[in-house]
Amino acid sequence: MSSYLKLENIRKSFNKTEVVKDLSLEIKEGEIMSFLGPSGCGKSTTLNMIAGFLEVDRGKIEVAGESVHLLPPHKREMGMVFQNYALFPHMTVFDNVAYGLKIRKVKKQEIRKRVLEGLEMVRLAGYENRYPKELSGGQQQRVSLARALVIKPKLLLLDEPLSNLDAKLRQEMREEIVDIQKKVGITTIFVTHDQEEALAISDRIAVMYDGRIEQVDIPSAIYNNPKTDFVSEFIGEVNQVKGKVLEVYKDNKSKILFFGKELIIPSDSSQDTMLNFFIRPEKVQIVNFRNTEEDTGIEMKVDKKMFLGARTRYFLKVNGEQLIADISNTVLNPSQIQEESTVIVHLNPDDLLLRKGR
Ligand SMILES: Nc1ncnc2c1ncn2[C@@H]1O[C@H](COP(=O)(O)OP(=O)(O)OP(=O)(O)O)[C@@H](O)[C@H]1O
Ligand SMILES: [Mg+2]
Repeated sequence: MSSYLKLENIRKSFNKTEVVKDLSLEIKEGEIMSFLGPSGCGKSTTLNMIAGFLEVDRGKIEVAGESVHLLPPHKREMGMVFQNYALFPHMTVFDNVAYGLKIRKVKKQEIRKRVLEGLEMVRLAGYENRYPKELSGGQQQRVSLARALVIKPKLLLLDEPLSNLDAKLRQEMREEIVDIQKKVGITTIFVTHDQEEALAISDRIAVMYDGRIEQVDIPSAIYNNPKTDFVSEFIGEVNQVKGKVLEVYKDNKSKILFFGKELIIPSDSSQDTMLNFFIRPEKVQIVNFRNTEEDTGIEMKVDKKMFLGARTRYFLKVNGEQLIADISNTVLNPSQIQEESTVIVHLNPDDLLLRKGR
């Protein structure tokens, strides 16, 4: 599918500090793309340039093949939802949702029809006459979603729409947003600094850092094949593991020493170099005794364990190095592993990600 939204080399500075740095990105029609990154990395600034609330210093923005970066916000036909709902407190739910249609001079009957449809879609039929203060946070956020959708925008822009809600409601609302987005088929950008939220709702994720996009990919690729150290560390949790190249073979494989044990893994580094790897805690496997004499697992001491509900986190130690293992409690009953005891740790060579630097 061809791209629907195209950002070409856009830049933005505030007081001579560049906060969006030559950013390019293409989003397909109907796609839900997340902007994910730490506070201050430029997510809202980028979104506001797309919406037209901020001008680009340089670069181009195209929607459906047409340049929009010189148009004022109301001519861009985009629906935006903010973190703080931004509802008009003195207007009823009906009038809040109708607002964008009124200023577009839509006929009264048509407004009524579209507002009621919009409220139906966000499961708020019957709430037309309430005022924002008579609604819960989740309901207010649904009103602002309805308000953004009724204008039938070309793009739906959501800037941390769920961050004021409690954990349970956040999860419900994110499922609802995805359902509505798929039903309407609207191209959507979802800004968040919550990696789990981004993994759960996105078709693709653009991971941002310091005004740039580090990687754009489907969620599983962002998680399993991070292209930079920043992406590895920002998404999910990682152990950092050092390995020494003991021997290099012809087929781009090497014998590497990890925690005093040898593993053969793909690598083309030369002998005696120290390599840095990441491994996710859930990829570390542990058993409480050696299966056979030839079992090549690494002996480690359980320094501490932490019950986390569905899984347990084990803090392991060997030769002063630490390794964290997250094990499902259905795979290994935590009562079988005592603190201070010794366990056997297995690392699958495929799960060791070579650090790339930035
Ligand atoms: N109007 C402004 N004037 C000056 N500096 C600004 C302005 N708006 C944003 N900035 C700065 O630009 C940088 C990017 O801000 P932005 O709001 O885009 O970050 P963000 O990724 O949305 O962060 P958060 O997750 O905290 O919302 C920050 O360093 C911020 O301080
Ligand atoms: Mg922001």
